[in-house]
Amino acid sequence: MMYPAIAIDGPAASGKSTVARLIAQKLQYTFINTGAMYRAVTWYLLQRGINPQDTAAVVAALPGIPLSFGKDGSVSTVVCEGRTLTDELKGQEVNGLVSTVAAIPEVRALLVRKQREYNESEPVVMEGRDIGTVVFPDTPFKYFVTASEEVRAARRAAEGITDSIAERDKKDTQRAASPLAQAPDARLVDTSDMSIDEVVACIADDIRAKLTQ
Ligand code: DC
Repeated sequence: MMYPAIAIDGPAASGKSTVARLIAQKLQYTFINTGAMYRAVTWYLLQRGINPQDTAAVVAALPGIPLSFGKDGSVSTVVCEGRTLTDELKGQEVNGLVSTVAAIPEVRALLVRKQREYNESEPVVMEGRDIGTVVFPDTPFKYFVTASEEVRAARRAAEGITDSIAERDKKDTQRAASPLAQAPDARLVDTSDMSIDEVVACIADDIRAKLTQ
C-alpha cells in the first residue's frame, strides 16, 4: 500500500457515505464509495436481463462488464459505456438485489482488486463493508460507523428512499464471503446521537492524532 487508506465501514444508512465524503474533502483525498461498485454490477446485470440470483450466469457475465471509474472533483464515480451512473444505482430493484450480488466471491474479488488499485495512485477515503477487514487490513485508519436500527431507518425514510436496510444488513452480515464486520482494530463510532459535524470531527481528530504520532 503506497498511501495509508482511510477505511470506513458500517451498516446501511449509518451515515458513513456523508461522513467519508466530508473527511475526504478535509484531507484532500479521493472519496470512494464501494457500495456504488456493487450497485453498478447489479444494475448492469438487470439491464442485460441477467438474473442476479443465478450465480453461474453472473460469474459468466463478469469479464464482459464494461465498468470503469471516473472522478467528479474528489469523488470517484462509476462509469458504464461512457455514462456516469448516479440515480440508476439507487433504485428499488438494485436495493433489493445488491446484497445477493455482493455475496458472490467472484464479484468481490474483481471489485476488491479495483479498490486496491485506486490506492496505488492516490490517497483514498474508502467506504464500504469490508474495507478494514479485507481491502486494506494493514491500514491504521479504520472506523466502524454505526447507528441504532431506528435511527438508520428514520434517516432513510427522511431521504424518501424505500430500502429494507434490516434485511440488507442481515444478508451482508451473514454471508460467507467478507461479511460486514468491525475489524478488531477499528474504532467504533456510534452516530445515533451525533451530528454529522461531530462525527467528522471525531474521525478527523483521530486521523490527525495518528498522523502526528
Ligand atoms: O453502501 P451501500 O448501501 O450503497 O452498499 C450496497 C450494498 O453493497 C450493501 O448492501 C452490500 C454491498 N457492499 C459490500 O458487500 N461490500 C462493500 N465494501 C460495499 C458494499
